[in-house]
Amino acid sequence: MPTIAENFANWNDPSRWIDDGNEWSQAWGSPATMWFGSILPRVAANLPAGSLLEIACGHGRVTEFLLAHCERYVGVDLAPDCVATCERRFAGIGKATFHRVDGRTLAGLGDGSFDFAISWDSLVHAEQEAIEGYVRELMRVLRPGGTAFLHHSNLHEHVGSDGVLTVENPHWRATSVSAALVREWAAQHGAQCLAQELVQWGTTAWNDCFTLLRRPRPGDGQVAPRIVRHPGFDMELGFFRMVDATWRHSLTVARNQRAPGAGGS
Ligand SMILES: C[S@@+](CC[C@H](N)C(=O)[O-])C[C@H]1O[C@@H](n2cnc3c(N)ncnc32)[C@H](O)[C@@H]1O
Repeated sequence: MPTIAENFANWNDPSRWIDDGNEWSQAWGSPATMWFGSILPRVAANLPAGSLLEIACGHGRVTEFLLAHCERYVGVDLAPDCVATCERRFAGIGKATFHRVDGRTLAGLGDGSFDFAISWDSLVHAEQEAIEGYVRELMRVLRPGGTAFLHHSNLHEHVGSDGVLTVENPHWRATSVSAALVREWAAQHGAQCLAQELVQWGTTAWNDCFTLLRRPRPGDGQVAPRIVRHPGFDMELGFFRMVDATWRHSLTVARNQRAPGAGGS
């Protein structure tokens, strides 16, 4: 049960960030291959975005790529140390600003001010209070017709009727959140749920889900969500790890070679 306070304590600790989060992309080979292989194909239909909101930007591992696809970027995070790190890392990029949030609301962000919102590899640790809060708030800060791609936990699906979790290693996932519950919260807060993809993130359990929400325009009706279980997510990562090692990593190694006889210190 990672609470907002526990998330704050964990992620606001600089020693928790070994390589600015790049270490979590090793399954793909690199953050670039993670972006081009697994994130961009899932969100490309929503891009480019005039104004883009990233929830839980961390140290900017995904921010770096999102910036190329929007005219205005706002990154928010629970941890002030993450906000400060992104402010330093992206200083000089005039279209980007970073703000601290309380973990459940988007206070301070204007109504109808974003075309697209995204959260990747972060809100899996956020319980109902945070996820339901963000679903409600997204229906305020998105413009009508705007969309949000949220990566969240599905672990509640693996909680038995006796309340016991049947997954051995929950990877600090939130147990009060599932794909089905996110659909319920979306309906309660006036969001359309367009699509959900359940994946097995580093385990055999269906522990994670990607959800695409939309703020309907006035008069829009309900849309039946497309819901899929993707049994090959680990193969997807393995494929991109091979591509990265062959095509990107090999080139990086070659570029870093010193010319024979170049000498120098
Ligand atoms: C594993 S890091 C990932 C950061 C970044 N998305 C990435 O992919 O590198 C998790 C991030 O989520 C943030 N976070 C956790 N719970 C949050 C919440 N309820 N609201 C906003 N940010 C949150 C943490 O502060 C941390 O920066």
